[in-house]
Amino acid sequence: METEACEVLYRFFRTASEYIEGYRSDAPYPESFAFAGDSTALVATTGAAVNAVSVETGSAEIVGTVTGASAAVSAGSGAPFGSMQEIYAAVAQCSACVLGQTRTHPVAGEGPEELSRLTNSVEVMVIGEGPGADEDRQGRPFVGRAGQLLDKMLEAIQLSRKTNCYITNVVKCRPPQNRDPAPEERSCCAAFLDAQIRLLRPKMILVMGRIAAQHLLQTSDGIGKLRGRFFDYQGIPLMPTYHPSALLRDESLKRPAWEDLKRFRARLHELQAQG
Ligand code: URA
Repeated sequence: METEACEVLYRFFRTASEYIEGYRSDAPYPESFAFAGDSTALVATTGAAVNAVSVETGSAEIVGTVTGASAAVSAGSGAPFGSMQEIYAAVAQCSACVLGQTRTHPVAGEGPEELSRLTNSVEVMVIGEGPGADEDRQGRPFVGRAGQLLDKMLEAIQLSRKTNCYITNVVKCRPPQNRDPAPEERSCCAAFLDAQIRLLRPKMILVMGRIAAQHLLQTSDGIGKLRGRFFDYQGIPLMPTYHPSALLRDESLKRPAWEDLKRFRARLHELQAQG
């Protein structure tokens, strides 16, 4: 697509999004426009780049770094969400992609009670792929079988959504028949996830499964290659590991997943000791 056409589309979506959200964004327009990816993902780049360079930082190896994440156009690029409540309200009203038409409940995220109300920091953010049937029914992330296993995995490394951990997904509405969320659906939701990360400023991010890892790291590498490694995500150490659903399907993945979690915990303890 021509750069000019991208710009026209960007302006159109931004205006539409401001209209839906009821306020005008004063975020600057991107420096350049590009048509990214395979088919339909329009992104406005802000000098964004993924550098696959290896960086050694003390005991933890940062194997990749993601800077200046692409701004998703359709969910309101650079939308100045001031609190989690504002994000929740926008997610509840969102119909930017087809998932909004088939969901029962949107699933924005869940953490310690006070985090929903305040702009606050949190120890760890856990990011999954998207709500399944149970989550869609209840409007809460990771509450089905995979969610129960996730809670146990987190408990094993002293994390809990009740106290120190915020759980959310790349897409906030359930993809029908539990299919993978499409690239354009992930792009539609990206502004919400970006804002959640920006508001909560987690010390570390744990990413569950291939889809979420590929989306956040803007890579097509498989989870077998990405898992257990630390990446720098906008200054935050991020580690992908196996999705709990994969562990339910294949017991042999539990041991490597546990190794990942131990590494994650060790790095978190280092950061906690630094204050
Ligand atoms: N799988 C996910 O990735 N997220 C959920 O919330 C539930 C299942």
